[in-house]
Amino acid sequence: MTNHVDERSFSLQSRIDLPRDTAVFITNGATVACSPSIARWMVLTHPAGRNTLDLLKQGRTLEEVLQAATAKFGQEDARAALEEVLAEVLDKGFEAGSPVQPDLTPSPYVTISLNVTNACNLRCITCYRFSGQRDDQEMGDENWFRILQQHSNMGGKVVKIAGGEPLCRGREFVCQAIGQAKTLGMKTLLLSNGTLIDEETAKELGRAGLDRMQISLDGPDPRSNDRIRGKGVFDKVITALERLCRCTAIDLYLAILPVPDLSLDALLTRGREFADQLRDQFGGRVTISVSQGMLEGREVHHDESLPFVLSCRQIQNTMAGPDTTAGHDLWQWEPGRRNLSCGYGRTLGVDPDGSVRACAGGEVVGNAQHEPLDAIIRKLETAALAYTVDQVEGCRECALRYICGGPCRVRPEACPDERKQDVLERLVATNRLRYDRPTDGR
Ligand SMILES: C[S@@+](CC[C@H](N)C(=O)[O-])C[C@H]1O[C@@H](n2cnc3c(N)ncnc32)[C@H](O)[C@@H]1O
Ligand code: SF4
Ligand code: SF4
Repeated sequence: MTNHVDERSFSLQSRIDLPRDTAVFITNGATVACSPSIARWMVLTHPAGRNTLDLLKQGRTLEEVLQAATAKFGQEDARAALEEVLAEVLDKGFEAGSPVQPDLTPSPYVTISLNVTNACNLRCITCYRFSGQRDDQEMGDENWFRILQQHSNMGGKVVKIAGGEPLCRGREFVCQAIGQAKTLGMKTLLLSNGTLIDEETAKELGRAGLDRMQISLDGPDPRSNDRIRGKGVFDKVITALERLCRCTAIDLYLAILPVPDLSLDALLTRGREFADQLRDQFGGRVTISVSQGMLEGREVHHDESLPFVLSCRQIQNTMAGPDTTAGHDLWQWEPGRRNLSCGYGRTLGVDPDGSVRACAGGEVVGNAQHEPLDAIIRKLETAALAYTVDQVEGCRECALRYICGGPCRVRPEACPDERKQDVLERLVATNRLRYDRPTDGR
């Protein structure tokens, strides 16, 4: 048997030098092998995969493995299972001594979220920012433009403009901020409730160069959505999407936050139908993104329990097609790259008065009005390094640690078996996606 991929070849006399710390798990019939020392994994779907892996771990040649497996599974299955293992070894670099990427910083700084106002024309019962009234201490335009420049100087790549409702601060300011970010070569994303987008606003956002717009909607029909976001909001959002589709080429996202007792059940039962309706109406221009946890809000309580997260994921999967959560994992699970933390420090959020948080709901770590952004980012990097999976008790010895990245830094929780199981299932799903579509656009 000779197999040439990436200029590697195997002969029947070859042995595969599997990492000594290879841990093997079985999940939904698939075998997942994971090695912390090289931060790599393999997924074997063939029923004889586990046995083949055990034989290889014993240091046998491929010929010896084939002979032993043939006696147990027959020639065809033995060969198919071995071919799958070899393909995975090559694709994931699953061999002792494979390189681990030298960039071990837990959170390369990428994104800034500018919460440019606390003013909002809605009073959603979920709102974790308790938005409504403009704050007295809101910073002037020139401060926001200075922060944008500093973000770019620090290597920032993405600018999110949010609030409150950013369009309540004024279309002109929002478009200027987008224009400046584009001039600095950054990607721009606007988060909006979608109720203030008339024809002219849609066109202006398009002209300013906005890359992506995320509009919130929490239920699949006016009945469930408007109890959360306000009367008439569902229809206004659909009209806004229609205008944005017609007048611009902006990437459109619908952000859905399932709310227990109000929209969760409706999304579980009618989400698919609603997604089909959106596809028919907007020809696939609108991507659905379902939130996977709830922060403490105006009239709701924090909930990131696994059952709630799994319901949200089920909604995401039925509304946007299978394995979309794995699609999210695809870009962060890179063989050989150690995921050292939950992502703490990768995104900065700036409040209307300049207060800076490392993530939504996290503590204030500085003020961008009074301190240079680079000083705040350095503080954060130090804080992030003190909280990596290698330091967290319970994660430190877990074979999945560099894939999982550990628990939330702001609200750490003990890891139940279900969470480990969830990581394994997502690895299997991610593998399916990895081979189903090109990965360069991730
Ligand atoms: C605070 S809003 C600001 C932008 C805009 N006003 C909007 O509603 O999209 C940003 C996002 O946070 C979400 N959100 C609000 N309350 C939340 C909560 N308690 N937990 C999680 N997400 C929440 C909203 O649904 C929205 O998608
Ligand atoms: S979630 Fe958005 S639209 Fe709703 S009250 Fe908060 S800021 Fe306003
Ligand atoms: S959170 Fe759980 S699965 Fe993740 S690294 Fe920690 S112990 Fe392992």
